[in-house]
Amino acid sequence: MWLAALAPLAYLAGCVLTDNLGANPIDFVTDTLGDWTLRMLLASLAVTPLRLLTGQAWLVTLRRLLGLFAFAYAVMHFSVWVVLDFFFDWPLMAADIVKRPYITVGMTALVLLTPLALTSTAGMVKRLGARAWRRLHRLVYVAAILGVLHYLWLAKVGVKTPWVYAAILALLLGIRIVAAVRRRASAPRAGASVEAARARWVKRRLEDTRPR
Ligand code: HEM
Repeated sequence: MWLAALAPLAYLAGCVLTDNLGANPIDFVTDTLGDWTLRMLLASLAVTPLRLLTGQAWLVTLRRLLGLFAFAYAVMHFSVWVVLDFFFDWPLMAADIVKRPYITVGMTALVLLTPLALTSTAGMVKRLGARAWRRLHRLVYVAAILGVLHYLWLAKVGVKTPWVYAAILALLLGIRIVAAVRRRASAPRAGASVEAARARWVKRRLEDTRPR
């Protein structure tokens, strides 16, 4: 998994070393890192649907690593913009975030991913409590939607790739929604069986205490 997740960086390093970055090296590096941010994000979101469909529980162990790699690629993608596009000109960067909606949306996605990366350890799950932690980590869905929106917004008319990502994200979120609806639909039945068990237990107790 580590090898697969680091391969895009090795590819980029290879392109740098062989001077193979195309006519616009900054765009090439930015786009490659942006592509891999989105791929890692979608891969991390694919883990739960895959587990639901295949029943392979071990897949869950990949989710955290993929999420952290998505964040690492997002930080590198953002850093290229900070260092090579704007040379640390903070006022100009702030103006760009406000002026270009696709930058606003990309920035928001990165900001949303930050607390998720910071709270990804088992210690943080314990400290926040599982329920609050799960609720906080639902932000990943918003970040992924914004990531796809960022790409849709910046891509030239007629470019199909961002729509492929949008379709994959819709499919992954759709599977989760169906699973959640099914869970909720079966919840009253689970409640009813608890009630039935309680009624049986009360009946047994009454029979035990009845004078013979
Ligand atoms: C989770 C966050 C983000 C994701 C998933 C993401 C993803 C992407 C993707 C897929 C591309 C297009 C790559 C291609 O054309 O092949 C891209 C391009 C780009 N992104 Fe992001 N991005 C994110 C955050 C950001 C942030 C925070 C910034 C800067 C503040 C940013 C600035 C850019 C720029 C300047 C481009 C190149 C646009 C062009 O080619 O003209 N992105 N990003």
